[in-house]
Amino acid sequence: MTKQPSQWIHVAAISDVPMGEAKAIRLGEGRSIALFNVDGRIYATDNQCPHMGYPLTRGAVRHGILTCDWHGRSFDLDGGGCFNYECDDLQTFPVDVRQDKIWIQLGDAQYKRRDEHLRLLWQGLLSEDRWTISKAIALLLKGSVPEEEIVEMVLRHLGRHIASSHGAEGGDDVSRLINGIKVGRRYQDADRLMVLATAACSVAGKAAERLEVVSLPGPVAWNNIDRWTRMFSHDGQSGRIERCLFTAYHLDYEDKIMPLLYECAVEPHFLGFADNLLSLGYLAEAIESFGWEQSSELVFSLGAKLLGRRRGEPERFRRDAVGLMTSMVPVIQASNPSTNRVIEYDEDAFVGALVSVNIQKSFDAVGTVLKAGVKLDRLITTLVLLSADRMARTPVNVDAGWGALTVELNLAASLRTAQRHGGDQVAAKGLFHAAWLLFADRWLNIPVRPLTIPLGGDTLDVPNEDAGVRVILNSIASLNVQDVGRQVLEYLNAGYSGDRLLHEMGRVMLWDDTNTRILPTLRTVFEEWERSSGSDPALGAGHPARYQLLVGLARYATDIRTNKDSGSATNTAMRFAEGRTTVDVFEE
Ligand code: FES
Repeated sequence: MTKQPSQWIHVAAISDVPMGEAKAIRLGEGRSIALFNVDGRIYATDNQCPHMGYPLTRGAVRHGILTCDWHGRSFDLDGGGCFNYECDDLQTFPVDVRQDKIWIQLGDAQYKRRDEHLRLLWQGLLSEDRWTISKAIALLLKGSVPEEEIVEMVLRHLGRHIASSHGAEGGDDVSRLINGIKVGRRYQDADRLMVLATAACSVAGKAAERLEVVSLPGPVAWNNIDRWTRMFSHDGQSGRIERCLFTAYHLDYEDKIMPLLYECAVEPHFLGFADNLLSLGYLAEAIESFGWEQSSELVFSLGAKLLGRRRGEPERFRRDAVGLMTSMVPVIQASNPSTNRVIEYDEDAFVGALVSVNIQKSFDAVGTVLKAGVKLDRLITTLVLLSADRMARTPVNVDAGWGALTVELNLAASLRTAQRHGGDQVAAKGLFHAAWLLFADRWLNIPVRPLTIPLGGDTLDVPNEDAGVRVILNSIASLNVQDVGRQVLEYLNAGYSGDRLLHEMGRVMLWDDTNTRILPTLRTVFEEWERSSGSDPALGAGHPARYQLLVGLARYATDIRTNKDSGSATNTAMRFAEGRTTVDVFEE
């Protein structure tokens, strides 16, 4: 093939494409071009069907319309326009026949289909079609569209989806998206695409138009917005909260919105609604990453639904706990957590009280450590490691309680976000919510043990780190939950890299179809492992229980694993974005 200026390429002789027939031409190692001879006129198109990559040379041409032979998508043979939904247009090329030779003009190699592929992603999100979503994301990433732009599109969809189709449970969607983004950034290529596509697919769904929320007519003072929001939250009136938040935003009070939402969420009457704190954390992270303009509809709609939810009549234990925490609010306010400096404290006594199945003792212990001036970071670390330790030791022969245990772990870790966006008093009150959760999970039959006792155990009997990783991954793949926890501990005892093990374990967990379920916990373990690998004892550095983060995660992921690969759409999308037709893939 000869190249000439302006990208005209000689691709075939006219005799290679007899009348009424088609021919595929391979350009080097890369893309395949389809040539069609229709009544003596030559047309050239991409040979890869934009739907799922089937070779279009196997399609049929009638009345100037090319129809793919696989799922019947149809295209204008001349201009490439597609007549079907969830399929983008076909690329066509100018053709020139000179002295019985066919030349086509490829144009420059620059990616110019950003808008088209973003629209395709939007279509996939609305129709909840995993293939369309995966393909669109693969094409956008291949075209070097920044990940932020892709996620912004998903986030906008999610705002409308939650506003029109979800109640407070919409927090689960935000969790999957934000945690997917955080975990996805730790991986490359197909792994990264798979996590992004998984996160996007898990927030797909209807996104109907809704009546626009408008600001309250002015003048409206912040004090009133603050007062009214708290009152509406107490009374369970979400629609009114949304209008207050929208008004605050338009009056440029956006810096006060998250602290206010957090303050409402840690009120004693929300004991037992751990998802409020978790979801607010993800909303705060959405604002952090994408700014108010992209996130406002989502934050106002979901924030109002969370804090304006009706709570029902509390059962006896919860009613007592609400009364108890209310009576302790002055203690919390007097504790001034921002001046706390103490790192060393009787952690085992604190933990013993938290799991004592006595809510009075548990809340008293929280009040005591706050009064004693123990750093919030340190207390949050205790809660994180306690939850990890429980995951590492929960019996798996009956119901291990993974749902409850992972909420304990994720809530504890999210108190760090609460402190960052809501302030110290919010985080201090959040400790009571975490303590309540441990009390509420009293049905779990996990023996109590002091958290500061070294874990002990042998070292893994393998020749090197590679072999150690392989042993553990095999245990995960073979659902060997009885041994995997011990093996992880022994691997770490041998001095092998926890970072590497976590990365490898994360990858195999992400390619199982339990991936959406596992995302929040995997993200928490990544971040808490990193913190405890640093030098700050308040964040867990040198803590005897820190290995339990990895042990607990391995046991959890192995026990819930289904061994159903959820990655076929991702793998096909990767190949598709590289320009390879389905036949190429089949032939490999
Ligand atoms: S219609 Fe062509 S691959 Fe589906």
